[in-house]
Amino acid sequence: MPKVAVIGCGDVSSVHFDAISAHPDAELVAVCDPDPERLAKAAAAHGVPGYADHRALLAEAGAEVVHICTPHNTHVDLAVDALAAGVNVILEKPLAHTLAAGERLVAAAAASTARIGICFQNRYNAPVQEMHRLLSSGDLGQVRGGAATVLWSRTAEYYRDRPWRGTWAGGGGGMMMNQAIHTLDLLQWLVGGVDEVSGEASTRTLGDAIEVEDTTDLVLHHSNGARSIFYATLSNTVNAPITLDIDTEKAQLSLRGALTVTYDDGRVEVTPERSAATGGRGYWGASHALLIEDFYGQLGQPGPFWIDPAEAAKSLRIIKELYRQSYPGAGFDVS
Ligand SMILES: NC(=O)c1ccc[n+]([C@@H]2O[C@H](COP(=O)([O-])OP(=O)(O)OC[C@H]3O[C@@H](n4cnc5c(N)ncnc54)[C@H](O)[C@@H]3O)[C@@H](O)[C@H]2O)c1
Repeated sequence: MPKVAVIGCGDVSSVHFDAISAHPDAELVAVCDPDPERLAKAAAAHGVPGYADHRALLAEAGAEVVHICTPHNTHVDLAVDALAAGVNVILEKPLAHTLAAGERLVAAAAASTARIGICFQNRYNAPVQEMHRLLSSGDLGQVRGGAATVLWSRTAEYYRDRPWRGTWAGGGGGMMMNQAIHTLDLLQWLVGGVDEVSGEASTRTLGDAIEVEDTTDLVLHHSNGARSIFYATLSNTVNAPITLDIDTEKAQLSLRGALTVTYDDGRVEVTPERSAATGGRGYWGASHALLIEDFYGQLGQPGPFWIDPAEAAKSLRIIKELYRQSYPGAGFDVS
């Protein structure tokens, strides 16, 4: 029966609260947010004590797991404090707002007996799991390449509502750090580790609202010899389903919600996606609850959670290399 707490009671916290209350064994014991209105609302909605400061929560609430759902530039300080207090952590993506902060959390996790998992929940989507199973089986031969798109829409109001999202200091970047990182993580997880990055980040439509990028094109060279292309933008007028295609010696894998695998011998297999089961936004996917359940189920086991800081650092490194190439001599910190 894990006793759990939620730190950060903004937009994404709703899917965490839903998953906690749907879990047969979890008990929510506290919430934390420095914003008095959001704190009072969450504490009243869930009938638990509210803390304005996470250190008081860690010391007093008796939580065995904290869910950290806060702006990017707070992730590492909060997670390091929880691990130092021996409290397990479910941390929202990205790992950190800077690479240096991310490396600090990788080291803190390696030195702690508490566990930490990063919310790359889309790795739990049924079609994505099937892609990984097929690619790992060896039945498809060599993977030759991948191609992914994220064609989404965000408005100026989305950023006016939460100013941290549109800034280098608060978000550590824009569309790549906040939205497209999920698909980039899948691409590098499925196709293989990335050795070389070539790309450009730019701001095409939201320049009046944000200082960070809203569009990116990328070529990734994987250590197994495969090559991937990646295009992502928030300049679309709708949130289109992400696309992820993988080319192998013996089959073409195409993710469009469902996974379609077309084998060279003409066979076609389809794996459908589960329907979204929580009150979250559709483009967040349906798998937060699966990751959270998996994490709780492994509490007390030795060794790291499979999506730990070292694993989450892989997408962060690609994004920071993209920024380094895109903003040479920038007057702001893209590290
Ligand atoms: N996995 C996903 O699909 C997904 C979806 C949406 C957001 N996210 C991630 O969730 C995180 C939060 O995003 P959001 O859109 O909910 O942001 P938000 O701004 O709506 O909510 C963040 C909350 O954290 C609070 N906060 C700030 N500093 C804090 C601190 N030191 N201690 C406690 N609370 C603090 C804020 O007051 C706010 O209420 C981000 O990392 C974002 O990238 C993930």
